[in-house]
Amino acid sequence: MTDKNLDPKLKIPSFTDATAGKEDKEIELSLRPKKLGEFIGQRRLKDQLEVFIEAARERGEALDHILFYGPPGLGKTTLAMLLAAEMGTNIKITSGPALTRAGDLASILTSLKKGDLLFIDEIHRLNKIVEETLYSAMEDYVLDIVLGKGPSARSVRLKLQKFTIVGATTRIGLISGPMRDRFGIVQQIDFYEDKNLSEIIMRTAEYLKVKIEKEAAEEIAKRSRGTPRIANRLLKRVRDYAQINNDGLITITEAKIALEKLGVDELGLSDADRKYLEVVKREYGGGPVGVENIAAALTEDVETITDVYEPFLMKKGLVKRTPRGRVIV
Ligand SMILES: Nc1ncnc2c1ncn2[C@@H]1O[C@H](COP(=O)(O)OP(=O)(O)O)[C@@H](O)[C@H]1O
Ligand SMILES: [Mg+2]
Repeated sequence: MTDKNLDPKLKIPSFTDATAGKEDKEIELSLRPKKLGEFIGQRRLKDQLEVFIEAARERGEALDHILFYGPPGLGKTTLAMLLAAEMGTNIKITSGPALTRAGDLASILTSLKKGDLLFIDEIHRLNKIVEETLYSAMEDYVLDIVLGKGPSARSVRLKLQKFTIVGATTRIGLISGPMRDRFGIVQQIDFYEDKNLSEIIMRTAEYLKVKIEKEAAEEIAKRSRGTPRIANRLLKRVRDYAQINNDGLITITEAKIALEKLGVDELGLSDADRKYLEVVKREYGGGPVGVENIAAALTEDVETITDVYEPFLMKKGLVKRTPRGRVIV
């Protein structure tokens, strides 16, 4: 369990936590697919994106603004980079919390060339002033900025090149109506099917030069919480185990033992997931119970509970959100 008072960025990720640690991040970067065709699964989403890309290219225009939402580790950042690659344009990367002043946003936007992408991660965390500045930029490709202070202050309007904002969020519910309306395309990214995860694991294994049997990849896939980032991370941990115990070859036996040691069960539930279920069951008789109470019992913040733990528990049909609180199914 993590300490509530710690900076969330410093927390040590558990193996099924989809927020990446530093070492994992480096490998993750190199694992990112380079073409949309290498992006595994999410068939419908990919088909739609291909149409948008093709159409924008044919018209010689920038892509429409796109918002991706869904739990961490499902490929939002990867997709943003793939869009830029497919469009043959530059991409700049920032995030809601990093854009503290309207001036920061203005200097990025004025540096964008026609068709360039600006990826804003955690876009639900933009502050009001920056968000409002973004509205006119997205809609009319202009920026109104105030120069000087006091009586001599004047407002100037800057024209911008036609660019594309790609936003990503784990919390679609926190995106304001006006913000959401400015995205021509809003796409949900859902958990992956096991067979796609298994394919991702095989691909990563090849990249890492790890020998793995198909059944072992399927076993890891099954326990990856529907999440590519977790699948890749579990593979690395299982590889370590197999290296010491079986000359590096990952068979189903090594996979099962290693996963067990990592505390990942057959459903892919982590210690934290199990603790969640236990708290609601034991302390609240199965619910309904408010999410704040669960968060307090797990010493996690509400955001982590609602964005990281619950989507998968609900997907598995283990938990339900009701108007009176959470209920174990
Ligand atoms: N569809 C996919 N195919 C292959 N690898 C993927 C896919 N989706 C995600 N990944 C891998 O999972 C990791 C996490 O993806 P990322 O885009 O950072 O997720 P998010 O931004 O949604 O948190 C990356 O290393 C990425 O390469
Ligand atoms: Mg991301």
